[in-house]
Amino acid sequence: MLQVTRHPDRAVRLRRLRRTDTMRELVRETRLHPHQFVYPMFVRGGRHVREPIPSMPGQFRFSVDEAVADADALRGLGINAVLLFGLPDAKDPAGSGAYADDGIVQQAARALRAEHPDLIVMTDVCLCEYTTHGHCGLVRDGEVDNDATLEVLGRTAVTQAVAGADVVAPSAMMDGQVAAIRRALDEAGCQHVAIMGYSAKYASAFYGPFRDAAGSAPQFGDRRGYQMNPPNAREAEREVAQDLSEGADIVMVKPALPYLDVLHRIRHAVTAPLAAYNVSGEYAMVKAAVQQGWLDERRTVLELLTAIARAGADLIISYHARDAATWLGPR
Ligand code: PBG
Repeated sequence: MLQVTRHPDRAVRLRRLRRTDTMRELVRETRLHPHQFVYPMFVRGGRHVREPIPSMPGQFRFSVDEAVADADALRGLGINAVLLFGLPDAKDPAGSGAYADDGIVQQAARALRAEHPDLIVMTDVCLCEYTTHGHCGLVRDGEVDNDATLEVLGRTAVTQAVAGADVVAPSAMMDGQVAAIRRALDEAGCQHVAIMGYSAKYASAFYGPFRDAAGSAPQFGDRRGYQMNPPNAREAEREVAQDLSEGADIVMVKPALPYLDVLHRIRHAVTAPLAAYNVSGEYAMVKAAVQQGWLDERRTVLELLTAIARAGADLIISYHARDAATWLGPR
């Protein structure tokens, strides 16, 4: 840090640069822009369906046609990327809906790709929304079987890529998932498709509303056997290093706000693009307080998203993205 000797009668007055809006904007260190936002979308079957999600006010389960229509609105706000989660009509123990050629995410990716050629379509690669037991991988003898799951995740990523995904995002927290997916994509001729690893994904209470929305809560046990233990920060560096060595193009810290220290630490540890996932529970907390009249939504959300960017995120995945883009103004 630069050492400055202070002239005894020339007082430092940091307030000089805070006097006006334009002055504050001039020296502002962190800026938000809709181009860095990724909007998560839940897609389901049916037509003309926009089904509100009770624990996530302002969020919907969209049928494919509605998701396509919504993407128009998002592009108008300057949001160029969506992350798709699928709500299949039926589930089974093997999670076969995840890798069906006409699975719900595959249908949505195909439709979005057809209507919006330069929209960045990202897809979640995981089994929990598709399995009857709700775990992120295949269950053998009451345990999630890491290596058997890898093959299924690879198949899932390939069907999504073939349907039009630009970026596949494995969130199952299986060891070796990035390498397995990279290999499967390359063998299928999808060398151009990028991988965003949910590298440091913690076993968090903040996924509650998402599991409501996706009907993906585990039916026995919990996810602590594969997701990271919240007290660990050094381990996040190991997870990120591992994903990068396996070929991840983008790495992620998730959730965002309770893990800003981890985000900051990873920012300094690696040069790869870094994503932060501002998850469902973080969103629900803000919405609940706003509904009570206890917080001002616009100021709260912009402050939180700015904090995530300041901590080091390049990409911000957030359910607040469309509101924030609206507030940030026309692009
Ligand atoms: C797993 C997945 C989850 C989220 C994203 N991908 C749920 C989980 O791990 O239980 C949570 C996202 C959120 O809470 O917004 N497919």
